[in-house]
Amino acid sequence: MLLMNDIVRDGHPALRKKSSEVNFPLSTEDKKLLDDMKTFILNSQDEEIAEKHQLRAGVGLAAPQLGINKRFIVIHFEYEDKLYNYQLVNPKIISHSVEMTYLNGGEGCLSVDEQIEGNVVRYARITIRAYDMDGNEIKVRFKGYPAVVLQHEIDHLNGIMFYDHINKDNPFYVPENAKIIE
Ligand code: NI
Repeated sequence: MLLMNDIVRDGHPALRKKSSEVNFPLSTEDKKLLDDMKTFILNSQDEEIAEKHQLRAGVGLAAPQLGINKRFIVIHFEYEDKLYNYQLVNPKIISHSVEMTYLNGGEGCLSVDEQIEGNVVRYARITIRAYDMDGNEIKVRFKGYPAVVLQHEIDHLNGIMFYDHINKDNPFYVPENAKIIE
Protein backbone atom coordinates (compact mmCIF):
# COMPACT_ATOMS: atom_id res chain seq x y z
CA MET A 1 0.00 0.00 0.00
CA LEU A 2 1.06 3.58 -0.60
CA LEU A 3 2.30 5.54 2.40
CA MET A 4 3.32 9.16 3.01
CA ASN A 5 6.91 8.25 2.08
CA ASP A 6 5.72 7.44 -1.44
CA ILE A 7 4.48 10.99 -1.90
CA VAL A 8 7.06 13.36 -3.32
CA ARG A 9 7.28 16.75 -1.67
CA ASP A 10 7.57 20.30 -2.88
CA GLY A 11 10.88 20.79 -4.67
CA HIS A 12 10.77 17.38 -6.40
CA PRO A 13 11.12 17.89 -10.18
CA ALA A 14 8.12 15.60 -10.94
CA LEU A 15 5.83 18.23 -9.40
CA ARG A 16 6.98 20.85 -11.90
CA LYS A 17 6.87 18.78 -15.08
CA LYS A 18 4.03 18.62 -17.57
CA SER A 19 2.80 15.02 -17.46
CA SER A 20 2.24 12.90 -20.56
CA GLU A 21 -1.10 11.72 -21.89
CA VAL A 22 -1.75 8.03 -21.37
CA ASN A 23 -2.71 5.69 -24.22
CA PHE A 24 -5.41 3.02 -24.08
CA PRO A 25 -5.71 0.22 -23.28
CA LEU A 26 -4.08 0.91 -19.94
CA SER A 27 -1.37 -1.49 -18.85
CA THR A 28 -2.00 -3.70 -15.84
CA GLU A 29 0.59 -1.59 -14.06
CA ASP A 30 -1.28 1.65 -14.78
CA LYS A 31 -4.60 0.18 -13.61
CA LYS A 32 -2.91 -0.92 -10.41
CA LEU A 33 -1.48 2.55 -9.97
CA LEU A 34 -4.98 4.10 -10.24
CA ASP A 35 -6.33 1.59 -7.73
CA ASP A 36 -3.42 2.16 -5.34
CA MET A 37 -4.03 5.91 -5.56
CA LYS A 38 -7.70 5.42 -4.71
CA THR A 39 -6.87 3.09 -1.81
CA PHE A 40 -4.44 5.67 -0.46
CA ILE A 41 -7.11 8.40 -0.44
CA LEU A 42 -9.65 6.06 1.17
CA ASN A 43 -7.10 4.99 3.80
CA SER A 44 -6.19 8.61 4.50
CA GLN A 45 -9.85 9.28 5.34
CA ASP A 46 -10.18 6.23 7.60
CA GLU A 47 -9.40 7.36 11.13
CA GLU A 48 -7.94 4.07 12.27
CA ILE A 49 -5.81 3.31 9.21
CA ALA A 50 -4.65 6.94 8.93
CA GLU A 51 -3.60 7.00 12.58
CA LYS A 52 -1.79 3.66 12.30
CA HIS A 53 0.20 4.69 9.22
CA GLN A 54 0.40 8.42 9.97
CA LEU A 55 -1.44 9.39 6.79
CA ARG A 56 -2.50 12.98 6.23
CA ALA A 57 -6.11 13.11 5.08
CA GLY A 58 -6.57 14.00 1.45
CA VAL A 59 -9.47 14.26 -1.01
CA GLY A 60 -7.45 13.85 -4.19
CA LEU A 61 -4.15 12.64 -5.57
CA ALA A 62 -2.37 13.09 -8.89
CA ALA A 63 0.23 10.66 -10.28
CA PRO A 64 3.05 13.26 -10.33
CA GLN A 65 2.74 13.31 -6.53
CA LEU A 66 4.12 9.78 -6.65
CA GLY A 67 6.91 10.91 -8.96
CA ILE A 68 5.06 9.48 -11.97
CA ASN A 69 4.43 12.00 -14.75
CA LYS A 70 1.31 10.44 -16.24
CA ARG A 71 -2.07 12.16 -16.56
CA PHE A 72 -3.92 10.26 -13.82
CA ILE A 73 -5.92 11.76 -10.95
CA VAL A 74 -8.07 10.25 -8.24
CA ILE A 75 -10.75 12.11 -6.29
CA HIS A 76 -12.82 10.87 -3.39
CA PHE A 77 -14.93 12.98 -1.06
CA GLU A 78 -18.48 13.77 -0.05
CA TYR A 79 -19.84 17.26 -0.45
CA GLU A 80 -23.38 18.45 0.19
CA ASP A 81 -24.61 14.84 0.42
CA LYS A 82 -23.08 13.89 -2.89
CA LEU A 83 -20.21 11.45 -3.36
CA TYR A 84 -17.45 12.52 -5.74
CA ASN A 85 -15.53 9.40 -6.61
CA TYR A 86 -13.43 9.43 -9.78
CA GLN A 87 -10.37 7.74 -11.21
CA LEU A 88 -9.62 9.87 -14.25
CA VAL A 89 -7.27 9.47 -17.17
CA ASN A 90 -6.20 12.46 -19.29
CA PRO A 91 -8.65 14.91 -17.63
CA LYS A 92 -8.98 18.24 -19.36
CA ILE A 93 -10.95 21.40 -18.58
CA ILE A 94 -12.97 22.04 -21.73
CA SER A 95 -14.92 25.08 -20.50
CA HIS A 96 -15.09 27.28 -17.42
CA SER A 97 -17.01 30.15 -15.88
CA VAL A 98 -15.87 33.76 -15.88
CA GLU A 99 -16.77 33.83 -12.22
CA MET A 100 -13.96 32.83 -9.88
CA THR A 101 -13.96 31.29 -6.42
CA TYR A 102 -11.64 30.43 -3.55
CA LEU A 103 -11.81 28.37 -0.38
CA ASN A 104 -12.04 30.11 2.95
CA GLY A 105 -8.81 29.12 4.73
CA GLY A 106 -6.92 28.42 1.52
CA GLU A 107 -5.77 25.06 0.16
CA GLY A 108 -3.46 22.31 1.27
CA CYS A 109 -1.61 19.59 -0.59
CA LEU A 110 -0.19 16.21 0.42
CA SER A 111 3.04 17.27 -1.31
CA VAL A 112 3.33 20.50 0.71
CA ASP A 113 4.12 19.95 4.38
CA GLU A 114 3.80 23.54 5.56
CA GLN A 115 0.68 25.63 5.52
CA ILE A 116 0.74 28.37 2.90
CA GLU A 117 -1.77 31.13 3.55
CA GLY A 118 -3.62 33.09 0.92
CA ASN A 119 -6.55 32.95 -1.45
CA VAL A 120 -6.14 30.34 -4.17
CA VAL A 121 -8.35 31.87 -6.83
CA ARG A 122 -9.87 29.43 -9.32
CA TYR A 123 -12.79 29.09 -11.75
CA ALA A 124 -16.13 28.77 -9.96
CA ARG A 125 -17.44 26.22 -12.49
CA ILE A 126 -15.71 23.91 -14.91
CA THR A 127 -16.62 21.21 -17.36
CA ILE A 128 -14.06 18.49 -17.78
CA ARG A 129 -13.59 15.73 -20.30
CA ALA A 130 -11.70 12.66 -19.18
CA TYR A 131 -11.59 8.89 -19.63
CA ASP A 132 -12.21 6.10 -17.16
CA MET A 133 -9.84 3.15 -16.79
CA ASP A 134 -11.52 1.32 -19.67
CA GLY A 135 -11.21 4.27 -22.02
CA ASN A 136 -14.84 5.41 -21.85
CA GLU A 137 -15.21 9.17 -22.28
CA ILE A 138 -16.66 11.06 -19.32
CA LYS A 139 -17.88 14.65 -19.37
CA VAL A 140 -18.74 16.21 -16.01
CA ARG A 141 -19.60 19.68 -14.77
CA PHE A 142 -18.38 20.73 -11.33
CA LYS A 143 -19.08 23.84 -9.30
CA GLY A 144 -17.88 25.27 -6.03
CA TYR A 145 -15.75 23.04 -3.79
CA PRO A 146 -15.67 20.03 -6.15
CA ALA A 147 -14.57 22.35 -9.00
CA VAL A 148 -11.72 23.60 -6.78
CA VAL A 149 -10.55 20.05 -5.99
CA LEU A 150 -10.60 19.04 -9.66
CA GLN A 151 -8.63 22.14 -10.67
CA HIS A 152 -6.07 21.50 -7.91
CA GLU A 153 -5.47 17.94 -9.13
CA ILE A 154 -5.46 18.77 -12.86
CA ASP A 155 -2.91 21.52 -12.09
CA HIS A 156 -0.55 18.84 -10.78
CA LEU A 157 -0.57 17.29 -14.28
CA ASN A 158 0.68 20.59 -15.64
CA GLY A 159 3.38 21.22 -13.03
CA ILE A 160 1.34 23.87 -11.23
CA MET A 161 1.14 24.09 -7.42
CA PHE A 162 -1.82 25.62 -5.57
CA TYR A 163 0.25 28.51 -4.20
CA ASP A 164 1.07 29.62 -7.76
CA HIS A 165 -2.49 31.02 -7.79
CA ILE A 166 -1.96 33.18 -4.67
CA ASN A 167 -1.42 36.87 -5.39
CA LYS A 168 2.27 37.59 -4.66
CA ASP A 169 1.81 41.16 -3.46
CA ASN A 170 -1.41 40.63 -1.54
CA PRO A 171 -2.07 36.97 -0.66
CA PHE A 172 -5.61 37.72 0.49
CA TYR A 173 -6.55 39.76 -2.57
CA VAL A 174 -10.09 39.04 -3.77
CA PRO A 175 -10.79 39.71 -7.45
CA GLU A 176 -14.09 41.48 -8.16
CA ASN A 177 -15.61 38.40 -9.79
CA ALA A 178 -14.61 35.93 -7.07
CA LYS A 179 -16.88 34.43 -4.42
CA ILE A 180 -15.70 32.74 -1.24
CA ILE A 181 -16.59 29.11 -0.42
CA GLU A 182 -17.14 28.78 3.33
NI1 NI B 1 -1.93 18.79 -4.28
